[in-house]
Amino acid sequence: MLYNTTPDQLYEPRSSIVDPLGYGKVAVVTGCASGIGLACTQLLLAHQFSVCGVDRAPFDYALLRVADHGRFHFHQADLAQDPAACDEVVRICLHASDQRNDQPQRIDVLVNVAGMLDNFASADTVTDAMWDQVLAVNLTVPVRMMRAVLGPMKEQQANVTTGGGVGGVIINVASTAGLSGAVAGVAYTASKHGLIGATKNVAWRFRHEGIRCNAVLPGAVDSSVGQAIANRVDEGLDTAGFAEAAPVHALQAQASPNKAPGSNGATSITALDVAKAVVFLLGDQASSINGVCLPVDKAWGVM
Ligand SMILES: NC(=O)c1ccc[n+]([C@@H]2O[C@H](COP(=O)([O-])OP(=O)(O)OC[C@H]3O[C@@H](n4cnc5c(N)ncnc54)[C@H](O)[C@@H]3O)[C@@H](O)[C@H]2O)c1
Repeated sequence: MLYNTTPDQLYEPRSSIVDPLGYGKVAVVTGCASGIGLACTQLLLAHQFSVCGVDRAPFDYALLRVADHGRFHFHQADLAQDPAACDEVVRICLHASDQRNDQPQRIDVLVNVAGMLDNFASADTVTDAMWDQVLAVNLTVPVRMMRAVLGPMKEQQANVTTGGGVGGVIINVASTAGLSGAVAGVAYTASKHGLIGATKNVAWRFRHEGIRCNAVLPGAVDSSVGQAIANRVDEGLDTAGFAEAAPVHALQAQASPNKAPGSNGATSITALDVAKAVVFLLGDQASSINGVCLPVDKAWGVM
């Protein structure tokens, strides 16, 4: 987890939320092995999607209900490592969907979650290595993933016999740092601002092709910023840059405190809260919502 100190848990849906939203549909989730990506995977499976998850870390199948295993395909890959990795993942997901559904290959949903925090370095201290890595993972990879799924989604739109004329839905997980300059380092902030720009561009460009593209902007999730910093000290935390962001994070923790024992300084926003916003945006109730950047932050972003 970026900030979370609570281990990822098995998600057991209440029976009332098990519905056919994703029946016969295929979703691709990047960063599926932990945190928000895992929560999205669990919730999409609970809504009957077939999910093709990708992560550079191994996936722990014990975090999925046994009943969902048959609709989950995991592919382990570092998406930032080589320029062809995203195309390759989409090829594998299309093939997996073909095998599983016994119907034409399709991708109905892409959720771009994989991402990384920076070390809070500012424009005067950021290294080329940190800049390149954060921009690659947080911006280049999501754009490459969108490029890779847009072809299949456009085909689905064109061929009504395979999908009812519905192209697809893309959700990008950005951040409060996609709008604010006060909550992270320069690389993370620029990457998430860039991802919001890419989201809006895709939404506009493909609006007549049955494809919607939206972003969610989580505040700090399950956040114990103190713990995050403790974890980052050995990794070259930029203390001057962090000192400027820390009071803003503290305001969020005060605004939505986690009352659970042992969660000092943490917010009550969970990965599941973010996953619920993702599922809302990809569902029919959001069918006219395109190009929005939806905060999931318990009003932190209004400051
Ligand atoms: N946690 C937060 O408080 C928070 C707040 C705002 C936005 N976000 C965003 O949400 C997303 C998920 O964050 P999280 O807290 O769940 O983090 P996390 O570290 O728990 O999960 C990120 C996952 O992405 C995977 N990943 C990272 N780089 C990858 C790569 N190159 N190829 C394949 N997989 C890769 C990691 O292995 C990990 O499983 C990120 O984009 C992050 O910027 C998180």
